[in-house]
Amino acid sequence: MITAVVYSESGGTYKTTMTANIAVALERMGQNTLVLDLDPQEGNLTSLFDVGVNRSNPEADNLVKHILDMPDGDFHDLIETTDEGVDIIPSHDMLGDFTSNLEQKISYETGMKNMNRDEYPRFELLYELLWNKQQVHEEYDAVLIDPNARAEDLLYNAIFALRTLVAPVKPAGKGNLSLEGLEELVGNMGRQLDIEIGLSCVVPSGVGQTNAHQQYQQQFESTEAFDTPVTIGNRESLMDAMWEARGSAFNVVEERWKTFERDGEMVSEPGQRRVRDRELDTLRKLYELAWFIATDTFDADIDPVLELDIQDYDSKTIDLREREATGATTA
Ligand SMILES: Nc1ncnc2c1ncn2[C@@H]1O[C@H](COP(=O)(O)OP(=O)(O)OP(=O)(O)O)[C@@H](O)[C@H]1O
Ligand SMILES: [Mg+2]
Repeated sequence: MITAVVYSESGGTYKTTMTANIAVALERMGQNTLVLDLDPQEGNLTSLFDVGVNRSNPEADNLVKHILDMPDGDFHDLIETTDEGVDIIPSHDMLGDFTSNLEQKISYETGMKNMNRDEYPRFELLYELLWNKQQVHEEYDAVLIDPNARAEDLLYNAIFALRTLVAPVKPAGKGNLSLEGLEELVGNMGRQLDIEIGLSCVVPSGVGQTNAHQQYQQQFESTEAFDTPVTIGNRESLMDAMWEARGSAFNVVEERWKTFERDGEMVSEPGQRRVRDRELDTLRKLYELAWFIATDTFDADIDPVLELDIQDYDSKTIDLREREATGATTA
């Protein structure tokens, strides 16, 4: 079973797009993959995949109700399937009120049972739901979570349930600091939750060609403290197109989504994007990242070959056993 929380201390570090890309890569490796969107804000995984029609309906059954053990329906009815085959439990506005709802539940239950509030297992509820009540491992090979970094209770529930982190990091002036901060953070969380938390890998992303960025990349790749299987370049155009394609970067390239100006208006359409070697190389890296998580961290036995079926174009094969993607160069 592959389980990972895509975690970062700071916002805008490409968590959501990375979660989508890892999930689709795992699915294409034949791993039946479920993602949980725990971020109630705009621009979340739910909007990326264009699911969750009921996310703003307070009456609708949603994951919070299930985590708090007050479901309004069947757990399976929460799950939607994206066009690329990944299953998702979409976000819901109630995630924003998770802590206050949880506090009410704790007050009620500790009152009934004459129990000390501090004894209540507030971080273990998602674990209970996924592995004990729903036996998600019987249906899925991989579960990923895109958490809301600021919502402590939800984040801690996510980490307690999945135990392993994948940490995207973005070049910033304080590159060094985040490197040290991460280890400390993993240690602190582990102690607080009284569990062993594994850091699968760190993924520097949005790394450009400037000296500062290159230096930053080297710093990460040369540390012994954690694994850095790939570095993702600055790929704004490719990743931004995901929000128009409503899918992964693989989908953007295969369907050739592009945003451009037509008659003074910005439009996004498939069938327009040029096939670029550097973008093919990025797909290879994303696939390699998923491969690393699956095999190196979780010992799964999976397919190292990715077939890209690009619209009106030659198909491309990415074979991780070869050093370079066929026809693709490193950017
Ligand atoms: N490698 C990349 N290079 C440049 N831009 C990128 C890259 N990956 C993603 N982006 C773009 O950066 C923006 C932020 O990405 P994303 O939404 O994944 O970040 P996030 O960490 O989930 O943000 P938040 O903290 O708000 O949830 C998006 O517009 C996305 O398309
Ligand atoms: Mg996000």
